[in-house]
Amino acid sequence: MKITVVGAGAVGASCAEYIAIKNFASEVVLLDIKEGYAEGKAMDLMQTASLNGFDTTITGTTGDYSKTADSDIAVITSGIPRKPGMTREELIGINAGIVKTVASSLLEHSPNVILIVVSNPMDTMTYLVHKSTNLPKNKIIGMGGALDSARFKYRLAEALDAPISDIDGMVIGGHSDTGMVPLASQAARNSVKVSEFLTEDRLKQVVEDTKVGGATLTKLLGTSAWYAPGAAVSSLAQAIACDQKKMFPCSTLLDGEYGLSDICIGVPVLLGKNGIEKIVDIPLSDTEKAKMQESAVGVRNTNGLLDV
Ligand code: 2OP
Repeated sequence: MKITVVGAGAVGASCAEYIAIKNFASEVVLLDIKEGYAEGKAMDLMQTASLNGFDTTITGTTGDYSKTADSDIAVITSGIPRKPGMTREELIGINAGIVKTVASSLLEHSPNVILIVVSNPMDTMTYLVHKSTNLPKNKIIGMGGALDSARFKYRLAEALDAPISDIDGMVIGGHSDTGMVPLASQAARNSVKVSEFLTEDRLKQVVEDTKVGGATLTKLLGTSAWYAPGAAVSSLAQAIACDQKKMFPCSTLLDGEYGLSDICIGVPVLLGKNGIEKIVDIPLSDTEKAKMQESAVGVRNTNGLLDV
């Protein structure tokens, strides 16, 4: 299993690190345009191998896509991250051109690759990859829901003063401060709905904190987060590499599911060796349905800024 990670910044390096630590890939190639940067990050990571107990080989390259040839999975993290006070949508002008070029360069050397899109605005970048490549829809996966769901579980565990392993919850919709739809009515501690333990106001606060999860970190860090995005990508890649058929909310091209078409937005999917193997239709309350439609309007507005 060969995995390429494009972009050796904090998010890309974190993806490579977690993929290696989970020990399911034989090879990870880090690619960056900044001279020597990917090579340096790869070497640094390789020097953790004996300490962290992994056998994955990590190599770096400055822009040489031939080194990525025959990748099974490629992760696109390229582009600029947001700065404090910026929305993900504001990155579109710069990131769209970069993501389009990266996707076509990857496909030139790995025609059968499965792509995981991380660059922001993520749902729109996933849509752009669909429009600019001829890859079948199961092979283009937008990472966002997996990360947002992890942040939701973190906030739920905090509110409940419970271990995270007790918590189950999912965030669907767009990967944006206003577009996320945390499914609060379905979140549970073991199988008991969290609404049994939390007041309506506290649960609302959890939902709001989840939606601005990325913005909160950007404010604290001065740039966007990397550990949880990297861990989320590694979990998606592992589900594909190990054919786990695991369910994650991911951004995928919809064709009538959830009443939406010609849009990439977060919905629950099953991930296995073929990438997205199934879009799972889960029952939503009327409020959740309305929020999902609202979220889709936001994503479509951003898609409208694309030149495709
Ligand atoms: C985040 O939410 C990188 O969009 C990503 O942290």
